[in-house]
Amino acid sequence: MSSGVCSLRWEGDALVILDQTRLPDEVSYITTADYRVVAGAIKDLKVRGAPAIGAAAAFALVLGAREALGSPRFRERVREVAAELTATRPTAVNLRWAVSRLLECLSENQACDRDLVDRLALEARAVFQEDVEGNRRLGRYGQTLVPQGSRILTHCNAGALATSGYGTALGVVRAAVEAGKKVTVYAGETRPLLQGARLTVWELVSEGVETFLVTDSMAGWLMAKGMVDLVLLGADRIAGNGDVANKIGTYSLAVLAAAHGMPFYVAAPVSTLDLSLASGAEIPIEERAESEVTGFGGRRTAPAGVRVFNPAFDVTPARLVTAIITDRGVVYPPYGTSLPGIFGA
Ligand code: MRU
Repeated sequence: MSSGVCSLRWEGDALVILDQTRLPDEVSYITTADYRVVAGAIKDLKVRGAPAIGAAAAFALVLGAREALGSPRFRERVREVAAELTATRPTAVNLRWAVSRLLECLSENQACDRDLVDRLALEARAVFQEDVEGNRRLGRYGQTLVPQGSRILTHCNAGALATSGYGTALGVVRAAVEAGKKVTVYAGETRPLLQGARLTVWELVSEGVETFLVTDSMAGWLMAKGMVDLVLLGADRIAGNGDVANKIGTYSLAVLAAAHGMPFYVAAPVSTLDLSLASGAEIPIEERAESEVTGFGGRRTAPAGVRVFNPAFDVTPARLVTAIITDRGVVYPPYGTSLPGIFGA
């Protein structure tokens, strides 16, 4: 089982983005050589998922650098574009990590010419390619934790769509299937933007994985009925102590998994680790528009004037995380020592 899904690709001198807001109804692409269009696509979740927005921002910075060629403020301008891109979504650290990689490249090269832009493009391609390869490794490590016949509950979309390819949590599912295991996935729909219902189900069903779509509020009952063996999902940022920021609803699943004595696995590449943060309390949590919650399918469902709280992510304390599956191996508590161990590996 392998994923033919491609969230983005670099073609000639332009970035091609699969517009995820139109899935599953329509497979349509945005082709652009303007970094502003990429920044807008990240904000609007046309491209989403921590590693995918990292790669998209890296390519966007190349586009911004190309536009700045010839300007007497070239380097300053590239740094302004980097700041604009980093501000698009605050929680997923992969975005800042990828942009910083390109800025380092800028600092190491004194030229302000076409060669430098080519060098930045090479680095952006490396960010993309390393993510695909890393996810395949992560999948191989992670599938050892998935027994034959497992029934897996996942949340949001941590698949090929959320990465440069193959996926993190869904990469583990893919690797388990490739290893000859039969698995069943329960995909939580993931209110309010339905990444589970629209994207995870689309990926898995198209590859023939037995999948059931469930609403987010069904999770506890599925566990109580013995219909789930483990929870497996992705992450947007992992602090130095192992606290995990991921799509809103993740924390509730972790509490439920602990209450039912089942493993709660987080799959994420090391580019999602932020060891500069002592705990999850320091992770910035993105709040999104009220309209995402007050309506459904383009129709308003809540009474006018209601106040809304719409955090896009929550933080799961490390004590509820059984293991973190990374592209450098599986790590276990205490994360304060195991995470720095693999980070430097
Ligand atoms: O708001 P989104 O759709 O970008 O949120 C994505 C998630 O929360 C994913 O679980 C996370 O980025 C991991 S993707 C491999």
